[in-house]
Amino acid sequence: MTGASILLDTVTKRYPGQGKPAVNGLTLEIPAGKIVMFVGPSGCGKTTTLKMINRLIEPTEGRIVLDGDDVTRIDGDALRRRIGYVIQAGGLFPHMSVAANIALVPKMLGWSKERIAARVDELLELVSLDPERYRDRFPRELSGGQQQRVGVARALAADPPVLLMDEPFGAVDPITRQRLQDELLNIQSELQKTIVCVTHDFDEAVKLGDWIAIFNEGAQLVQYDTPERILAEPANEFVENFIGSGAGLKQLTLTRVDEVEVADAVVARPGDLATEVLSRMDAVGHNHSVIVDARNRPLQWLSRRQLSRLERVGAARDPRLPVVGNRATLNDALDTMLVSSVGAALVTGPRDTFRGVIDVDTVMDAIGRAHRHARTAHAQGRPVGVNTGTLEAVQASGAPGVPAAGLAGPERTRE
Ligand SMILES: Nc1ncnc2c1ncn2[C@@H]1O[C@H](COP(=O)(O)OP(=O)(O)OP(=O)(O)O)[C@@H](O)[C@H]1O
Ligand SMILES: [Mg+2]
Repeated sequence: MTGASILLDTVTKRYPGQGKPAVNGLTLEIPAGKIVMFVGPSGCGKTTTLKMINRLIEPTEGRIVLDGDDVTRIDGDALRRRIGYVIQAGGLFPHMSVAANIALVPKMLGWSKERIAARVDELLELVSLDPERYRDRFPRELSGGQQQRVGVARALAADPPVLLMDEPFGAVDPITRQRLQDELLNIQSELQKTIVCVTHDFDEAVKLGDWIAIFNEGAQLVQYDTPERILAEPANEFVENFIGSGAGLKQLTLTRVDEVEVADAVVARPGDLATEVLSRMDAVGHNHSVIVDARNRPLQWLSRRQLSRLERVGAARDPRLPVVGNRATLNDALDTMLVSSVGAALVTGPRDTFRGVIDVDTVMDAIGRAHRHARTAHAQGRPVGVNTGTLEAVQASGAPGVPAAGLAGPERTRE
């Protein structure tokens, strides 16, 4: 694990001339190596909270603890070298090349030229930008999504244990956004940083977050939990409204096809006699048969009617076959089913081999199970998040849902 745990201990921020504090006595544990998403209405204090972690904004009261070290009073510049920070696309220096932007912190740390150059190329590869093509460009010669990638590379340059991101994907189109999100998840599974990320988009929070902190006005923490549990049991009406309608559908992005049971099918091969396949279908009461090639990869999906017109099964591959891979989400599977005439989809495993059939009923069952699972998972621990009181006081109180052990929490599996 390369990430560091973060503790905001009873932290308050009062801006000069403001009646109410922007953040009021917030205690929040951020477990090492996890992604924590901050969501909440505009002006509720998300950016303020985020910037207090690296002290770009100094807390009025309270402590910031990084991996057990109180960093509230240490030199702010030194602290910020241990914490990567990604802001919206504008965050790159326009007069500096991509390479120079990425090299900023390593340069400050006095790395050698060779080491810096190697690191720049390594990071460009990591964020899927070809170093040859991009290292000497200027930010204005990049698309919004590419600038955002460089921003992430720059934040990772000195290999900090913590990455703070303030609406990093807010300014790009939905397709690019999805790709950047997937990339962040890949980077995270490789590097296991501690990532705190602000977003306006609840779906993004569900997709990326191990934990989601939902704030209201004054950085009041309304719910701090896994996406699963927030969807299954929103703390109150405010959270319900935030989730919006379709919470059931959002469950679909949490579950992958390989986590649900798929149905068997009658399998046939090119050259088989149609009558023989039909009688096997009769025996088990199926209306379709899956035709696979010699390496067990699906070629066709034939109905009784289609088979009854054939003498022998053909070897052609149907290009419109509704197929989903093991790692697809149930949401992806549902999309595929809806456009297939069968109302179901074929599931393939390693090397595209046929695994079974998934249908709408299976997906509906999985949603029901996800709800029940989220409820029973309640007994497990979660990080502490409260608005008033120190970590010790909260733990000592034995308040429900607050683990004495602190940072332990349920693991969310993700590739
Ligand atoms: N420098 C400042 N001086 C005075 N008040 C400020 C300052 N910065 C922020 N505020 C106020 O503090 C509150 C929290 O602001 P903050 O930027 O943390 O909100 P936010 O949740 O990030 O909002 P958004 O989603 O719009 O980015 C707001 O009411 C804001 O007006
Ligand atoms: Mg903000």
